[in-house]
Amino acid sequence: MNRTLGSDRANAGFLSHGPAGGGKTLIGHDRVAAWWLSLDRIGEEDWAGLEALLIDEELERADRFHFHRDREVYIAAHAICRGLLSYCIGEAPQSWRFSVEDHGKPELISPAGGPRIRVNISHTRGLAAVALTVDHDIGVDVEWLQRDAPTEKLAERVFAEPERRTLAAAPNASKIDTFLTFWTLKEAYVKAIGKGLSQPLDAFSFDLESLRIHFDDSLADDPARWHFERYRLSADHLMALAIRHPEPAALAVDTVPAPLDYLLELAAS
Ligand SMILES: CC(C)(COP(=O)(O)OP(=O)(O)OC[C@H]1O[C@@H](n2cnc3c(N)ncnc32)[C@H](O)[C@@H]1OP(=O)(O)O)[C@@H](O)C(=O)NCCC(=O)NCCS
Repeated sequence: MNRTLGSDRANAGFLSHGPAGGGKTLIGHDRVAAWWLSLDRIGEEDWAGLEALLIDEELERADRFHFHRDREVYIAAHAICRGLLSYCIGEAPQSWRFSVEDHGKPELISPAGGPRIRVNISHTRGLAAVALTVDHDIGVDVEWLQRDAPTEKLAERVFAEPERRTLAAAPNASKIDTFLTFWTLKEAYVKAIGKGLSQPLDAFSFDLESLRIHFDDSLADDPARWHFERYRLSADHLMALAIRHPEPAALAVDTVPAPLDYLLELAAS
């Protein structure tokens, strides 16, 4: 499903009923909540509030980035991650802790006795995103449309044969779009399974019409248990989500622009 997102609250889903409170959470096994934040929505005066949502370790890491733009997008990503967790579950944003899995995937250490929360973030030039669910593997990827990227050369190295054919047949004007649609879907999948780029990207392929995944025999995985979504977030940004679920048709996916006002109020509270 290729969705165009905007501020149309008429179609707002369960995220418009938050934030969580009174012991009630907004998230469940069949729900996916995703927020995205474009950096051009953030005013100079907002940065201190977003930084206040982070923990010291994250602020130290932010300060180690060489480029200011990398620092900013890192802060935005971690602020919306902590903000979405608090919005859906209701604890303080700085209370969340993560462990790091074998291939570098951070996993939330869920509160004892509560549901197992799964969360993943992505950042690219000018935009950050976070996606969250309960129990199921989840991955998100956002990319900036670098219009002069050598798409077919890159595809030779990392895409499966059917994807390379689709890209070769795409009109020149939409090559970068096609390339990055495949790329975001592939990254979302390898992030959902936690393997990152240690998973060869040509061992599986996507059909862009159905958004179905096809696995090589070498990958013991079941296409029927995967749900993918793709979004154009702006003229310059694409996003994909990957969720492993026993019954993908039962999933409700709620993707909205991150509520900046809520984040700043949370930081001030
Ligand atoms: C995970 C990976 C696919 C990220 O891709 P990317 O497009 O550069 O970055 P994104 O912005 O989409 O995602 C980065 C976030 O994903 C998360 N992440 C890191 N490793 C992850 C993994 N293995 N699986 C899922 N998520 C991961 C982190 O939260 C990270 O953000 P943070 O560093 O600010 O906490 C890629 O960097 C990777 O595979 N790294 C692991 C190291 C590795 O295998 N290297 C081999 C190089 S050939």
